[in-house]
Amino acid sequence: MPADAREPQCSQGPLLVLGIEASCDETAAAVVRRDGAGRGEILSNVVRTQLDEHRPYGGVVPEIAARAHVECLDFIVRGALDEAGVSLKDLSGIAATAGPGLNGGLVAGLVSGKALALASGKPFLAINHLEAHALTAGLTDGLAPPYLILLVSGGHTQTLLVQGVGRYRRLGTTIDDAIGEAFDKTAKLLGLGYPGGPEVERAAQRGDANRFPLPRPMIGRAEPHFSLAGLKTAVRQRAEAAAPLTDQDVADLCAAFEAAVTDIVIDRVSRAMEMAEDAFGPDRPRWLAVAGGVAANKAIAAGLSGLAKARGYRLAVPPAALCTDNGAMIAWAGAERLALGLVDGLDFAARPRWPLDPEAPAAIGAGVKA
Ligand code: KG4
Ligand code: ZN
Repeated sequence: MPADAREPQCSQGPLLVLGIEASCDETAAAVVRRDGAGRGEILSNVVRTQLDEHRPYGGVVPEIAARAHVECLDFIVRGALDEAGVSLKDLSGIAATAGPGLNGGLVAGLVSGKALALASGKPFLAINHLEAHALTAGLTDGLAPPYLILLVSGGHTQTLLVQGVGRYRRLGTTIDDAIGEAFDKTAKLLGLGYPGGPEVERAAQRGDANRFPLPRPMIGRAEPHFSLAGLKTAVRQRAEAAAPLTDQDVADLCAAFEAAVTDIVIDRVSRAMEMAEDAFGPDRPRWLAVAGGVAANKAIAAGLSGLAKARGYRLAVPPAALCTDNGAMIAWAGAERLALGLVDGLDFAARPRWPLDPEAPAAIGAGVKA
């Protein structure tokens, strides 16, 4: 079957799907059940994070990531099947992340998934990692499209309109750093640990957000994109001017950075809401879902909650373990696609760059992460 072959047949019966994720620094596998009415249930969800391997370098090292995935993938898959109490023959399909992400890990996860599909004769599903994040609210909150999603992780910062499985309209994206990346770089610059988000949040709790004025790039702009690089540079300049930094200086800089990011997120999501409402009128989305590690940030979450309330949206924030990278979201995206007959061939190649909405107009910027 060619790489993008689709079998247009629908399944109304229950489906049991194994999902494999190895696109970044988590090796994960899970088994999810989707009933005939489209409700999901997680039977197992096994995640091994590589944080300890990457911590000495202050960021993910692709080669170390790929090797670590290869070493433990088989055991993680075994664990997911055992914990769910199922074997390969019970599965309806096998899903693996095919992109976007780091090539070495993608290849490792894909090869595992394809080998299992080949050995068991089950359908194979090549999953877009961003689609899996975008569909998670269907698994956790039973959300049906259309809805808006804010995806905020170490690698991605996007607002997307989810119109259906396989149908996405990208509204905003970052023209430089992802928000999680900006948290990580700010933490590194201030001498805090990795990953930076939780460290910056902790320090910010003791800080005065008003002591160091920081810019809020893109706020008020008609295009819905994000930009974080200028904010990060401003933190560096303030830090250099105040050096040597006391603990209180670091806390104040963290508080100022977190407040600026929160304002940016609220403004950018608000703009995405306007665009979705203009485009869809009375059929406008009434739900805002959030995914990605940054969703764990309490100031940002509180800001989003206020925004949703003010604009008549309901907010779906999946539990942290399902906001960050995991196998259950891959299995669920696989089940949703399998239900529509959207299976893939065993020749499906890894796609380190794989935008969810290929039609989205390019955002002009230094290092756009589609
Ligand atoms: O979704 P995720 O676990 O992994 C991927 O990037 O795929 O997101 C990790 C990112 C890191 O950049 C981390 O610093 C950030 O999410 N993060 C946070 C918080 N917890 C994790 N950022 C801000 N506040 C947090 N509490
Ligand atoms: Zn992710």
